[in-house]
Amino acid sequence: MKIPNHIAIILDGNGRWAKAKGMPRSYGHVVGCDNLDKMCTIISEMGVKYLTVYAFSTENWKRNQAEVQVLMNLFRRYLKRCERSARKNGTRIKVIGDISALDPDIQERIRWAEEMTKDNDRLHFQIALNYGSRDEILRGMTRMAEDARAGLLPEGKITEDIFASYLDTAGIPDPDLMIRTSGEMRLSNFLLWQLAYTEFYFVDVPWPDFHKEQLLDAIEVYNGRDRRFGNAKS
Ligand code: FPP
Repeated sequence: MKIPNHIAIILDGNGRWAKAKGMPRSYGHVVGCDNLDKMCTIISEMGVKYLTVYAFSTENWKRNQAEVQVLMNLFRRYLKRCERSARKNGTRIKVIGDISALDPDIQERIRWAEEMTKDNDRLHFQIALNYGSRDEILRGMTRMAEDARAGLLPEGKITEDIFASYLDTAGIPDPDLMIRTSGEMRLSNFLLWQLAYTEFYFVDVPWPDFHKEQLLDAIEVYNGRDRRFGNAKS
């Protein structure tokens, strides 16, 4: 079975999963976070080199404030404890998104986690926090316009590679497989540029119930696809 080099996942359905069990939505996020930890180990052991997950979108601030606080506290706890799991899985952590809107202590923990794991090379793990693809493109293009004004860019010759180098994902290969759990069939402003040629897999299972077996199903479907990049075959 061919293992995708880069898997991107929209972690959806924590709230509905908890509600179906008569529990508060926050319980779903806690279990979802634990599941992410377990899945990172499984994904790393499978030989996947890059994993990118959508943990908190630029739209998620509009949620109930108590729920936003639960999520922020989960990120705090995760970032504080990630050293152990990062060492176990050989994980290099990188956060994508506009982190300037997060609380200063979370920003500090992000910098610490990125610095501490920067020499790990087995699994490159991108966590999208306060991430929106349109926001990422606008932030990148603002920097690109500044560089163009300063004469740092070739005039009239912006290539795909130059454009991509201004995105939060600069240097990271595009995803081969994008998985969205819990039945919704849209991208919700996730990696719009990077997913141009990615295979999509939508599954009804909510994120807390998405385990190794479900991942293998997704990879099997991916293996049955005839990948094309524009006119070229893979
Ligand atoms: C979507 O489920 C999920 C989120 C908005 C949060 C996802 C976050 C985690 C799984 C925790 C990740 C933790 C780290 C450290 C990266 P939903 O609440 O939209 O579910 P619903 O669609 O059923 O309402």
